[in-house]
Parts: sequence; C-alpha cells; structure tokens
Amino acid sequence: MLIRTGRDGHDHGVPSEITPRAVHEDRRTLLKWMATGAAGAALATWAQREALAQQVQRPGKLAALQAVRSTVPGAVTMEKLTEYKDAASYNNFYEFGTDKSDPAENAHTLKTRPWVVEVEGLVKKPGKFAIEDLMKLAPMEERIYRLRCVEGWSMVIPWVGYPLAKLIEKAEPLGSAKFVEFLTLADPKTMPFVGSRVLDWPYAEGLRMDEAMHPLTLLTFGMYGEVLPNQNGAPVRIVVPWKYGFKSAKSIVKIRFSEQMPHTAWNKAAAQEYGFYSNVNPNVDHPRWSQATERRIGEDGLFAKKRKTLMFNGYEQQVGQLYAGMDLKKNY
Ligand code: MTE
Repeated sequence: MLIRTGRDGHDHGVPSEITPRAVHEDRRTLLKWMATGAAGAALATWAQREALAQQVQRPGKLAALQAVRSTVPGAVTMEKLTEYKDAASYNNFYEFGTDKSDPAENAHTLKTRPWVVEVEGLVKKPGKFAIEDLMKLAPMEERIYRLRCVEGWSMVIPWVGYPLAKLIEKAEPLGSAKFVEFLTLADPKTMPFVGSRVLDWPYAEGLRMDEAMHPLTLLTFGMYGEVLPNQNGAPVRIVVPWKYGFKSAKSIVKIRFSEQMPHTAWNKAAAQEYGFYSNVNPNVDHPRWSQATERRIGEDGLFAKKRKTLMFNGYEQQVGQLYAGMDLKKNY
C-alpha cells in the first residue's frame, strides 16, 4: 500500500513498504517461473517438504508396508491426519454390519490369505493375480488423502498403494472398454451381514475408464505404513479421493472391464440418492440432507465447527477437467 507523503504531491512508499530490491527480483523470477510453469514444481517441492514434516506414526499392530511418499500432484494433503484408532474403528463395511463399530468388531473373521483378484472382460490380457503378486506389480507409494463419506463426515488418511492405472495398463484394455467394475468378496460364512437384504451382494462399484486411469485413483493395500486392517478393506481396496467414500470398494476380488456403465450396489439400492458418478459436490444435496458441510472425525465435541465441503473434495484442480461440459446436477 502506498501513502501520500511528499510535499510535491507524489506518492512515496514508507520505508517498510518499499519493496527491497532482492524481494522485487525474487518476485520477477517468480513471475517468470509462473509463466514457464516452474512455479508449480517449486510449490510441489515445498509441499513435499511440508508433508515430510508430517510423519505418519506406524501403529505397530499389523505388518509394515514400505512405501515412498508420492510426488503425484495433489496426492499428499498437509492436513492433520485422522488418528489410526478412529480410522480403524469408525467404518462402513456393511458385510460386517451397519453400525460404525461393527466392522472393527466383526471383521476378524475375514480370511485375507489366500486371496486372488481376477481381471476380466474387455481386455487383451485377462488373468488372476495372487495378492502377493499384485502387491509387487508397481512401487508402493504413500498418499495422504481426504476421504469424504456421503453421510457428511470426513477423515484424512495416509494410504499405501499404487495407481490403479498400473494394473490397467498391464491388462491392456480393448478400445471398446469404457468402464471398470469392482466386485468385492461376499462370503456368508465369514461376513455375517451378507445374508441381509440391505444391499444386493456382492458390493459392486465402478468408474469410467478415464477416472480409473487418473493418477490419483489408488489401488490400496495399506494405511499408516502397515497393511490394511480387515475393517478398512484388506487385503486390497480402491481409494478414489474426489468421490464419496462409497465409491472406494473394499476387499476386491474381481475387476471387470465393460462397454456399458456397470450397476453399482448403492445405485441399485436407491437410484435417486446414489448416482454412478458420486463426485463430492457441496452444491448438490443428497435428497435427504445437505452436502455443503462435513464433520471431521476426531474434531467432535460440542463446539467443533463443521468444515465446508470442497468441490471434488478439494481435488478440483486435478480432476475437474474429467467432467468438463457435464451437468453435475444430472450426473450426481
Ligand atoms: N466396500 C464394501 N465392500 N462394503 C461397504 O459397505 N462401504 C463404503 C466404502 N467401501 C463399503 C465399501 C463406504 S460407504 C465408505 S464411506 C468407505 O468404504 C469407508 O472406508 P473406511 O472405513 O476405510 O473409512
């Protein structure tokens, strides 16, 4: 800001407001960088340094899962992590019950070995992957994502996995493959709620091919530096950070490529409430409640303020272009 000081009526900066030459030079360099796109890279390095400061505590309950911190743009949020105990005890995994505490109490019955994931449908190379081989397919990365549930709560979780795109490339989809479907385990012997009629089992989800190929879509094997606890979808799940949590199917056994948009479990159960896209969108309310704000798990308490929900859960810069020209009210 400049103030009028001179008798001559000219504007002079007060000393503290005169930009020192070095800073000025810095700004010029910054502007040049911005023009070349190098500023993005510089900011990314800064973000990485900041993120590294946020050390993930390994809870030491399960086997360690080594990973390097991801450098993919948007893959590491600097927000405070949700505590492991909350992330592993406040869950939606209806195969084990509908209460938030049911999965942590009941999912010990889930047998995660042997585990095979079948890749089928419109691909050149269909196949069956033993979980051990699937885990070796690409280097593991740690990503710190916000997870926003359609019910109005959110968490910040350090996941471990690699981009789903790596597996898709390996399968070599045919040109006719437009969608990817995820089918999860439905074993009535180990999953007490699979006999119930809340959903049409197996739990099924799907993505459009470009969504599935997006570098933020993570084939996930661990969290907090360890393999996934059963209640969070062991031994392998998907995490799609810009969509409501229910798109992130747990305990996957089949990945199918198709030309038609697949039917998804929640869409079948209540089509007017849960669409195929389910992108986080504060401007499109659920028919029974607003989606404008959210409660961050761990910030509860009488005076805890709700947070504003962000468009695409804060990943608009990375994924917004996937939906250019689409009516997001119709394609909810
Ligand atoms: N996957 C399966 N197989 N069954 C489920 O009931 N619930 C979904 C999703 N994946 C669900 C599932 C919902 S509604 C949410 S919010 C997330 O898992 C929760 O993941 P989290 O428990 O790891 O936070």
